[in-house]
Amino acid sequence: MKVLDHLLPKPVTVTPRSGVLRITPTFTLGLKGDPGKRTLTGASRFLARLAGRTGIFLANPKPLVAPLPNDCSLVVRYQRPGNLALNEDESYQIEIGSNQAFLHAETDLGVLRGFETILQLLTADENGPFFPAVDITDEPRFPWRGLLMDCARHFQPLEVIKRNLDGMAAVKLNVLHWHLTDDQAFRVESKVFPRLHQDGTDGEYYTQEQIREIIAYADLRGIRVVPEFDLPGHTSSWVLGYPELASAPGPYHPETGFGVKDTVVNPAREETYAFLEAFFQEMAALFPDTYIHIGGDENNGKQWLANPEIQGFMRANNLSDPHSLQAYFNRRLHAILTKLNKKMVGWDEILDPDLPASTIVIQAWRNKESLWQAAKMGYKGILSHGYYLDLMQPTALHYQNDPLAEADQLTAEEQQLILGGEAAMWTEFISPETIDARIWPRAAAIAERLWSPAAHCTLEGLDDRLAMVSLRLEELGLTHIKNYPMMLRRLCGSMEIDALKTLVDLCEPVKNYERTIQCPEATIYSPLTRVVDAAPAEAQTARKFHKLVRAFLSTLEPDPKASAMSDKYENLHRAIKAQLSLWQQNHAALEPVIQSAPLLTEIQSLSADLARIAGLGLDLLTFWDKWQNNEPLNLDSAFYQKQKTAFAAAAKPRGQVELVVTGAIAELVEALWQMMMGDQSPPPSNATTEEEAI
Ligand code: ACM
Repeated sequence: MKVLDHLLPKPVTVTPRSGVLRITPTFTLGLKGDPGKRTLTGASRFLARLAGRTGIFLANPKPLVAPLPNDCSLVVRYQRPGNLALNEDESYQIEIGSNQAFLHAETDLGVLRGFETILQLLTADENGPFFPAVDITDEPRFPWRGLLMDCARHFQPLEVIKRNLDGMAAVKLNVLHWHLTDDQAFRVESKVFPRLHQDGTDGEYYTQEQIREIIAYADLRGIRVVPEFDLPGHTSSWVLGYPELASAPGPYHPETGFGVKDTVVNPAREETYAFLEAFFQEMAALFPDTYIHIGGDENNGKQWLANPEIQGFMRANNLSDPHSLQAYFNRRLHAILTKLNKKMVGWDEILDPDLPASTIVIQAWRNKESLWQAAKMGYKGILSHGYYLDLMQPTALHYQNDPLAEADQLTAEEQQLILGGEAAMWTEFISPETIDARIWPRAAAIAERLWSPAAHCTLEGLDDRLAMVSLRLEELGLTHIKNYPMMLRRLCGSMEIDALKTLVDLCEPVKNYERTIQCPEATIYSPLTRVVDAAPAEAQTARKFHKLVRAFLSTLEPDPKASAMSDKYENLHRAIKAQLSLWQQNHAALEPVIQSAPLLTEIQSLSADLARIAGLGLDLLTFWDKWQNNEPLNLDSAFYQKQKTAFAAAAKPRGQVELVVTGAIAELVEALWQMMMGDQSPPPSNATTEEEAI
């Protein structure tokens, strides 16, 4: 693949020129004008990464500033410091020639975006590293391109947030949505109400100094930090220290499990608003961004309906149901934030015609319709439905989810209100060790969807570009690749992980909210070190095998007996056979490992199932070869039945893990059977239980 095809997100225009700009020890980066801290530090990081990747000892490892020599290798110029706020100019232009390169931008934010593009252009041949000569012009399609990190369910140390901010910058995401409070914990230090973080955590929270450190770190990477304080539901951690905020008498205990809780703050007491005003005054001073997220999701209203005082308040104020009461609460919150010169973001539940539209952003998570509904009502909106990374969905699903697709029911003006979207990393089942692999590289695909022109966003080549980005994200300290074998070593209790890796490479965690359903006993203290935690969100080995099967089947002629003639057929046949043989033998190799690794017993039968279905695949290939040689097959419906039950058994999750290669092997087996047996196939079996399979 050519390096120009590796760019992610794809720029608006890429015009190749002839020639290359070689990187040698004399490479220099010159900053024109009076560079600010964002550009200076960004340029230093650029040079460090360039040196790190090429191994070249740069004579000038720091950027040069005025007066610049004429022959700087890369000349950077921008007009003004960017205002780190919604809708700021992030555009840039790159011109790379054989002797010199230029990066021009209106703001230093554009410079940072351009640095990332240039680093993606770095490649090498037998004469060493170089940038290809090229002209690039680029700007984002959407101004709000975020990543939500839930640091409430599982605390994420500063270095985890920092390395993910670096990853975000690498793919031009520009908003960290910092989910800081939830039922399980209150993670931000409040000097005004210290029992919030003291009673609301067991010691793991961000001090205000640490918050400022993260905000400064993000600022230098051109990333806004929008904090979320989830209200009025998701507040079990608030009421531990301040039970007077609650709508029910309690007593309250730390909430360690997951799912929607009843706890909700009391909107009928004036003291609640006095508390929240003092709290938000403190937070408004701590977080410089114009926007503050007030949550607003998943209030089941039970405690409001059970409290006579609140019921009286509702009657007195003509509030007919919990939604109207929450809208009242939100209006009060909105007035508080407005007084503090802040604008409000909330989950789609807060949508209500009585809330002033002009200063509110709706974050659509339950469905996409709420985004359009919000726009029709005049609200700005961002999309997160379809971008939930915790649901373990495939990259393609996230990537094809365009905030404006099917939005043609909206006027051009209403479409303008859709600001972009956010990938969401909820952490019920995510630890600092696993978070990177759940975010990357899938979030990079979402980043492209939000940055690049819609017409550029086609699945073609995406896998290759993501693989390249993924590799390069490692240089930022992200652990999404390296933690996988480490976790497998821990599971095996040994360095010998080959057999386990062969199996887990073909597995994915169960999708959507299945893990909570299958493992209801999980709490914030449950270990996140099992196979399900190590398994890739998207099993590339299984996907590659599926492509191999599809390619093989596509080589088959209308008269399948003619197929064996082509080299392509032979190669694919051989590759599939080799893969299936490895998988068939893997269980025997894994069994002794499992004997001394109790954590692996939960996937023991999954391993046996892999051997069985791989064996069936091999059997079918053998029959297929015989059939092509006109040898007798002796196949009957009993064999067909055996095959059906084996695949049904293999498809069942164990240990909240699915053997996702099952579908590809089944597809191969089914297709070959149909071609050989045609009308002789019995009707599909309903037998699906494991007993029947054994
Ligand atoms: C949410 O996922 N409850 C916003």
